[in-house]
Amino acid sequence: MTEWLNAMNDPFAELQNYQQAALAAIQNADSEATIEAVRIEFLGQKKGRLKNLQALFGKLDKEQKPLFGKQFNEIKTLVSQRLEEKQAALSSPVTALEAIDITLPGVAVSPGKRHPLTQTIEEFKDIVGRFGFSVVEGPEIEDEWHNFNALNIPESHPARDPLENFYLAAAEVSSGGPVLLRSQTSTVQIRIMEQTEPPIRIVSVGRVYRPDTIDATHSCMFHQMEGLMIDTNVTMAQLKTVLSMFARAYLGDGVEVRFRPSFFPFTEPSVEVDMLWDGNWLEIGGAGMVDPAVLEAVGYDPEQVTGFAFGLGIERFCMKRHEINDIRRFYENDIRFLRQF
Ligand code: DAH
Repeated sequence: MTEWLNAMNDPFAELQNYQQAALAAIQNADSEATIEAVRIEFLGQKKGRLKNLQALFGKLDKEQKPLFGKQFNEIKTLVSQRLEEKQAALSSPVTALEAIDITLPGVAVSPGKRHPLTQTIEEFKDIVGRFGFSVVEGPEIEDEWHNFNALNIPESHPARDPLENFYLAAAEVSSGGPVLLRSQTSTVQIRIMEQTEPPIRIVSVGRVYRPDTIDATHSCMFHQMEGLMIDTNVTMAQLKTVLSMFARAYLGDGVEVRFRPSFFPFTEPSVEVDMLWDGNWLEIGGAGMVDPAVLEAVGYDPEQVTGFAFGLGIERFCMKRHEINDIRRFYENDIRFLRQF
C-alpha cells in the first residue's frame, strides 16, 4: 500500500505506470470502439491520463524537469505509435473473400477458342486415326537430301531453284550444308522410312514454306497433311479408298472425289486429287504410289514392299468448309475473324 502511494508520488514512476497501462490496454483492445476508448483515456487532449502526467511537471524540481520532459515525450511517442498501429489493424479493410458477394449472379468469361486451322488439323488427325494412321512430327528446317534428293527430285528440277525456296544462309554455315525451310511435308516420309522398318502407316501435319507472291489463295507459309502407307502389297485402289473415305468423313457422304493423272518425282503413277463441292471441282492435293527410286533411297527393297503417299492442303479444306475467301485471314490474328469458329 505504501509502495503504491510512493509510486503515486514519484513522477518518474508515474510515467512508467502510464506506459505499462497504456501498452497493455492497446494490446487488449479488440474492436475499433475499444481502441478509441483507449485513445481517449491515454492520449486525450482535454483530460485523461496524459493530462494528469503533464500536471506533475509543475511539481518537479528544476533539475528533474529536462529528464522528465524527455521521458514524457518518448513515452507519448511510443504509445501514440502503438495506438496507431492497432487502429490500423482493427480497421483493416474487409478481406478479398469478404468483399465478394457470392449471392450475385455470375458474369460469363469467354475462355477463347482454338484457331480454325488448329481445329481442322485436329479433326484431320482424328479421322485418319480411325483409319489406323499414327501421327508423327518432322523438322521445319531441312537439308537438301530430305527435301529433294531422297524424294527423287534431281539437281536440275525447277522445284530446287533457290528463288522457289527459302534457303537459310546462316544455318548452312553451322550445319555444314545447304538448309532450307521445307517446301513440302513429303520430307517426313523420308525421315520415317529411314528410321523404321515396314509396315508403316503415318500422317504428318505441319507448316511448309514457299516464296509465293501473297494473294487471296497463296501464302508463303501454309499447312499440309502428308500420308504414307508402306507394306508388302499396297495398291492404288487402297490409296483411292483411303482418300475417298477421308473426304466423306470430313465433308459428308455426298462428296465426290476424282483422281487426275499427274506427275510428281516421288510417286509413280501420280495423281492430283479433286473433290466436288457445291458443283465445283476443288483440288485438294497430290498423291501416288511411292516411286521405287524413293524406296531405294531409304534402303528398302522395291521388290519386297510397295506404298502410297499423299499430301493435302489444310487451308483449302478449311476455307471451303467455312466459305473463307481469303487465305490471309488465317494469319492476321484478327479477333473478329477468329471468334467465328
Ligand atoms: N509434296 C507435294 C506438294 O507439296 C504433294 C504430294 C504429292 C505429296 C504426291 C505426296 C504425293 O506425298 O505422293 O505439292
